[in-house]
Amino acid sequence: MSTVAFLGLGHMGSRMAARLVAAGHEVTTWNRTPRRLAGARAATTPADAVAGAEFVLTMLTGPEAVEAVLFGDDGAAPAMTPHAVLVELSTIGPRAVAAIAARLPCPVVDAPVGGSIDRAEAGELIVLAGGAESDVDRVAPVLAALGDVRRTGGSGSAAAAKLVLNAAMVGGLALLGEVRELAAALGVDPEPLLGTGPLAMVAARAGATGVHFGTELAVKDLDLAIRHGDRLPLLAAARDRADTQPTGQDAGALADPRSTR
Ligand SMILES: NC(=O)c1ccc[n+]([C@@H]2O[C@H](COP(=O)([O-])OP(=O)(O)OC[C@H]3O[C@@H](n4cnc5c(N)ncnc54)[C@H](OP(=O)(O)O)[C@@H]3O)[C@@H](O)[C@H]2O)c1
Repeated sequence: MSTVAFLGLGHMGSRMAARLVAAGHEVTTWNRTPRRLAGARAATTPADAVAGAEFVLTMLTGPEAVEAVLFGDDGAAPAMTPHAVLVELSTIGPRAVAAIAARLPCPVVDAPVGGSIDRAEAGELIVLAGGAESDVDRVAPVLAALGDVRRTGGSGSAAAAKLVLNAAMVGGLALLGEVRELAAALGVDPEPLLGTGPLAMVAARAGATGVHFGTELAVKDLDLAIRHGDRLPLLAAARDRADTQPTGQDAGALADPRSTR
């Protein structure tokens, strides 16, 4: 069993850290807003949390939060040794992964996840994993407690793949909202068509219960994606649509044409 520091106990992190405790790892947690997790030690700062940890896992909002937690006041980075591995689970994109890797004394594995809080709780996430093969080998037994580990290649490849997946999901949800609007204008009941049509998986996600992916996270992911291409106007429009949603609402609301702030 491994010594793990887990930084970020939000919707996803709280459930993922609980999986690591249940798997028998020695877990120390830290969250900006103090929060306790049964079976884990709660540290008062990121630096305190990572002292002596073999694996440091971050599950935070986005690049700015990861920057603050690693390199800000009482940040984790100076307290990490070359023998540790940072496992970056948040969705932050490949550029942020590269920027972090260049400044840390230890290897970095980017391991963003697919699936929401229901699958996090069940340990059934898809865990994409990018990095040197030997580093991914080291962290794979820990990540296995979170779900199905899928290697994507070198450093940053998982972060890149995750942006593509989320662009498809959030873009699809926004398109589904417009398709429903069109159906209403034409007097067509779209639901029987959508259940088996080209947007079937997106429609299933839109109607899913037990999930929570905030629309502010959808905006963040499309902002990260759009930086990588200058011919992505549809994703930019989906981003703007997500930005009209009430904060804290699940991104599935994008598929409801009447949902706006
Ligand atoms: N929710 C999903 O379905 C889902 C699925 C796959 C991937 N993801 C990705 O996973 C990550 C976490 O998602 P989530 O749903 O768990 O988000 P969340 O519930 O909003 O949690 C965000 C976490 O980041 C912390 N944080 C934010 N800004 C910070 C800062 N400046 N300094 C320190 N800590 C900060 C928050 O601390 P406080 O508690 O103090 O606010 C909280 O622990 C995101 O990158 C998201 O895109 C989410």
